[in-house]
Amino acid sequence: MDEDVAGAEAPKAARPRKPRVDVASRDAKLKESRTAEGMAKRQRDISVSEFFAKNRHLLGFDNPAKALLTTVKELVDNALDACDEARIPADIEIRIDALSEERFRVSCRDNGPGIVPRNVPSVFGKLLYGSKFHRLKMSRGQQGIGVSAAGMYGLLTTGKPVQVISRTSSKKLAYRCDIAIDTQRNEPAVKLEKEIEWEHPQGTQVEIELEAQYRKGQHSVDNYVLQISLANPHAQLRYLPPWREQPDEAVVYARVTEQMPPETAEIKPHPYGVELGVLMQMLRESKARSVASLLCEEFSRISPRVADEITAKAGFASTLKPTKVSEAQVIALHAAIAATKIMAPSTDCIAPIGEELLLRALAAVHPSPFPTTVTRKPSVYRGNPFLIEVGLAYGGDLPAEESATMYRYANRVPLQYQQGACAVTRAITATEWKSYGLSQPRGAMPIGPLVILVHIASVWVPFTSESKEAIAHYPEIIKEIKLGLQDCGRRLGAHMRRRRREADEEKKRGYIQKYIPHLASALQEILGLSDPDREHTVETLTTLLERSRKL
Ligand SMILES: Nc1ncnc2c1ncn2[C@@H]1O[C@H](COP(=O)(O)OP(=O)(O)O)[C@@H](O)[C@H]1O
Ligand SMILES: [Mg+2]
Repeated sequence: MDEDVAGAEAPKAARPRKPRVDVASRDAKLKESRTAEGMAKRQRDISVSEFFAKNRHLLGFDNPAKALLTTVKELVDNALDACDEARIPADIEIRIDALSEERFRVSCRDNGPGIVPRNVPSVFGKLLYGSKFHRLKMSRGQQGIGVSAAGMYGLLTTGKPVQVISRTSSKKLAYRCDIAIDTQRNEPAVKLEKEIEWEHPQGTQVEIELEAQYRKGQHSVDNYVLQISLANPHAQLRYLPPWREQPDEAVVYARVTEQMPPETAEIKPHPYGVELGVLMQMLRESKARSVASLLCEEFSRISPRVADEITAKAGFASTLKPTKVSEAQVIALHAAIAATKIMAPSTDCIAPIGEELLLRALAAVHPSPFPTTVTRKPSVYRGNPFLIEVGLAYGGDLPAEESATMYRYANRVPLQYQQGACAVTRAITATEWKSYGLSQPRGAMPIGPLVILVHIASVWVPFTSESKEAIAHYPEIIKEIKLGLQDCGRRLGAHMRRRRREADEEKKRGYIQKYIPHLASALQEILGLSDPDREHTVETLTTLLERSRKL
């Protein structure tokens, strides 16, 4: 495996003589390097791109199969975000072309608003650049490292820049730009730039070439596209997998509704979620006249009256200038916020998929005799509003002997990795599925022909890491998921009992059916009935049995 080791076994004669080492000067250098001065020479800034290039696993690029999925995911998330924000029903084409077994070209085209040419280089060639980080609004991306990280991975593994075509209006030409990322400076390096004709009136197309692997199964791109269609019933998806027989052979997930998801509002942070350090910095940098006006302007749900109440509790005047607040006073202020009753955040900032649409999407992908969905009321964790949706599909051609299939989502994005670390898994395994008629090994997923879908929607989803694969274990979140599962579970339980009762009845009816002719023959013998009378008795008894079915 390790080529360097193999190389070290070259014949001894060929090995060059080692130069002699000046021991004294080497030791002196070593000593110097261990001092504060010596260390100072090595201390310098680390650019974010350099950091993530080395720690690519943090962003979901830990192996070639996952790199392919992550790349597709970042592109599709952005396309859906852009279309939703522009209120355009998304039409997305995802294409993967295999250049070899371990090299692929991923392309994603949307019909969204496009990106203005002057911002294209930074969007694709600079990490931590985006429109979503500095706001609290429900969206798929949040940190501004998604697509540029995918581009960087492509560049690192193939040397090829990201190819972007973007058109903001049918009245303008399209803009084509090839972008590499200068990892040391975290700056874009534009390789090519020109205006071109494009057959599409508006939208963005991004192409990334990368070293990767195409796999089937739970973690596959195929599965991702299927899951995306479930949580985005308003989007139309065309997916062209690698190694197609025909160049335009596509898997199409048609939209099941023309209705766009409700528009969501951007909100200010709720005071219950603010951390002490953040509050300190806000006060230090504030241009507000008074602490009261800072609290009212920067947070949601703080009225002048509530601001007075908070500062009174903290033991200083609400008219105090924020920059004049001492450290002890900030600590008191932070405690006072927690001790004051403040209205829960408004919840018009989160849009559920909706029970009806989720049901339709579920039926389109997994036709089953028993589908059910629940959208819970919004709730709050650390000052952030969130909402849970649960869907179950039972029966049909789902595998009966295996663990239930789980689909986890955050803001309509499927989460396919880190299942064990996710709050959703915890909530499912902690639910008593036996009481709903399913078998369940201790502390594990239930067994049966079942799909369990859980969606968390929030302005700020608490992921366990930058690669956004699992939801952190906030008790408030786990509790809400469990309540959603129980709502659906009870309905499933009722369905299972009804089914069992019907099966029991069917079995009994089968016995009776079998004995009717014998009964008629016995009656014929005892009562001396004629053959037609015996036939008549059989008929009457059968009709009676049939009628009992309808009761
Ligand atoms: N297909 C697209 N259409 C329009 N805007 C886009 C598109 N892709 C990316 N963007 C813009 O580029 C920004 C950076 O994207 P990204 O690096 O994925 O970060 P994030 O999605 O977390 O903000 C986005 O915030 C968005 O403003
Ligand atoms: Mg993104």
